[in-house]
Amino acid sequence: MERADAEAIYEQGRQAVVSVLLALSARIDAQDVQIAKLVARVEELEQRLNRNSRNSSAPPSQDPPGAPERKRSERSGRKQGGQSGHPSDSSSVHDTLAESAATYGNPLGGKTRHAACLDCHDPHQAKSGPHSDNYAGPALQNALGAKLVGTLAAWTKPASASNWSVVKIQAGTDVEATLCFKCHSAFSWGSGTPPYAPGLGGGGYTDQARGFNPANGSAGGYHPVLADCSNNYSRILDLNNLSQTFVRTWSKTTRNRMTCSDCHASETAGDPLGPHGSAVGFLLRGPNTDWNSSMSVANSTSFNNNTATYKAFCFNCHDPGFASDNSWFHKADANYGAHHHNTVPCLGCHAAVQHGGPRPGMLVGTSGVNTYYGNPGSYADWDTAAPYAVATGLYIWRQPAPGEMWQMSDCGCYGPDHGH
Ligand code: HEC
Ligand code: HEC
Ligand code: HEC
Ligand code: HEC
Ligand code: HEC
Repeated sequence: MERADAEAIYEQGRQAVVSVLLALSARIDAQDVQIAKLVARVEELEQRLNRNSRNSSAPPSQDPPGAPERKRSERSGRKQGGQSGHPSDSSSVHDTLAESAATYGNPLGGKTRHAACLDCHDPHQAKSGPHSDNYAGPALQNALGAKLVGTLAAWTKPASASNWSVVKIQAGTDVEATLCFKCHSAFSWGSGTPPYAPGLGGGGYTDQARGFNPANGSAGGYHPVLADCSNNYSRILDLNNLSQTFVRTWSKTTRNRMTCSDCHASETAGDPLGPHGSAVGFLLRGPNTDWNSSMSVANSTSFNNNTATYKAFCFNCHDPGFASDNSWFHKADANYGAHHHNTVPCLGCHAAVQHGGPRPGMLVGTSGVNTYYGNPGSYADWDTAAPYAVATGLYIWRQPAPGEMWQMSDCGCYGPDHGH
């Protein structure tokens, strides 16, 4: 009611004023009753929230989101079986509930890191069948994932809650990486330190959303897990289907997209698809599983007859002859390839974690970076430190402009003046 309205009522005289006051008073009484009901309801809900499977007889399936986790050992006092209701496996039930309520920086990154079947599958919705492009396959239907929303600047961490939304993954619509980001990105550890990764040469797990970010294509490169590769560098249109024994085939004429599980799965043909387990570190998918700092072009290229010491993981999909390589470096040319670069370790030029990064071809400047000639500066956590940079090799003299290929004058091996 505006002041003018109130004055108009007053002008109408005593009778009008009295009836308006009575009407207002009745309305306030009704609202008091309503508020009392709501307060009682809030108290009831608060009590329920504090009562969960740990401090009551309620089964874990009735735990509210955010209830403390029920430890396995707490079950040991009770005998299995003979109780009413369905038997419940607390580890599988609470995971799903906790994750549906998980937000940015959730405890999946801390001590409670886990990965049980129900973290990645909804057993009622999962179906059989292959995945296509970079999309989640039918086995992941309805699993909870963390979806990257909006755009992220190049080589940055998704460092805010607004980068994420929790979704039920739709096979064929959501990218498979949505599932993995739940535990393998800042969505899990927030602004805290990523969990330590055994076997990574020191340091923690890397942020997969940062690595595969398509915006890295503005100066760098990435495997096409979220989007097509940029057209700037390494247009690998002529992929060689040499060893497609159990990794899917790749188009030689159009851009391909891929999933995490195209690279991470069992090393053995015939095992179920998916990153379940492997005899090989980092679950690198076979048949070729070598990727280490002893490998070089000289001792790893000959895949066809399998005589090479190392069967390079990369050659499950890429052509060991580098027929389509958009650079000088792998050619058998006496001046550029065989003569100079045969014995440089792959990891002297390529980052160990070949997900994606701020330099084209996911290359690292392990021997140093010239600060002139248009280099976008040194990326301390990319060029010089594990887990990305683990062997000595490439000196980056000049970063090629978008659309240009790497050539000898851009680089030096083991020192700044090589090639100049
Ligand atoms: C082109 C193949 C490829 C693809 C695609 C790929 N990875 Fe990897 N990944 C690798 C290789 C190679 C390593 C081993 C790094 C090393 O040896 O240090 C690795 C390492 C890892 C590691 C352990 C080190 C780290 O960086 O944290 C995790 C976790 C991982 N990958 C998860 C993922 C997830 C999640 C995706 C999809 C979003 C993915 N990978 C897609 C090749 C791939
Ligand atoms: C499971 C198959 C697979 C494996 C294994 C694999 N790649 Fe790739 N790689 C691809 C595909 C697919 C593309 C995108 C090509 C296209 O656009 O169609 C690609 C693209 C690239 C690019 C270009 C990136 C850009 O931004 O332009 C580089 C460099 C590369 N891979 C290096 C490697 C190295 C090094 C390894 C071994 C550690 C490796 N790849 C292992 C499938 C694979
Ligand atoms: C870290 C996540 C993760 C966990 C944990 C996990 N899976 Fe999977 N699983 C996947 C992914 C991803 C795929 C789909 C791979 C694809 O599309 O190529 C898959 C596929 C499958 C498939 C289909 C395999 C095929 O060859 O088609 C079955 C069956 C399966 N999982 C069962 C299980 C069981 C049982 C468990 C627990 C013992 C489990 N998974 C745990 C991620 C996971
Ligand atoms: C529910 C959480 C969760 C999800 C979802 C998840 N992971 Fe993991 N992942 C983990 C944990 C925990 C580890 C660490 C295991 C360890 O340290 O022993 C791990 C480790 C890994 C490793 C490294 C193994 C090694 O040798 O160090 C790879 C590779 C990996 N995950 C790939 C994937 C891929 C690909 C996906 C998506 C298809 C995925 N993960 C989804 C929790 C998860
Ligand atoms: C002297 C540096 C150097 C060494 C050593 C090196 N590379 Fe490369 N590699 C490059 C450059 C430069 C590119 C092109 C990157 C670009 O333009 O995006 C490249 C591209 C690639 C590509 C993608 C292009 C294609 O044609 O398939 C793969 C795969 C690859 N390298 C694998 C390897 C493997 C495996 C080894 C070791 C056996 C190795 N590289 C050793 C510098 C090197």
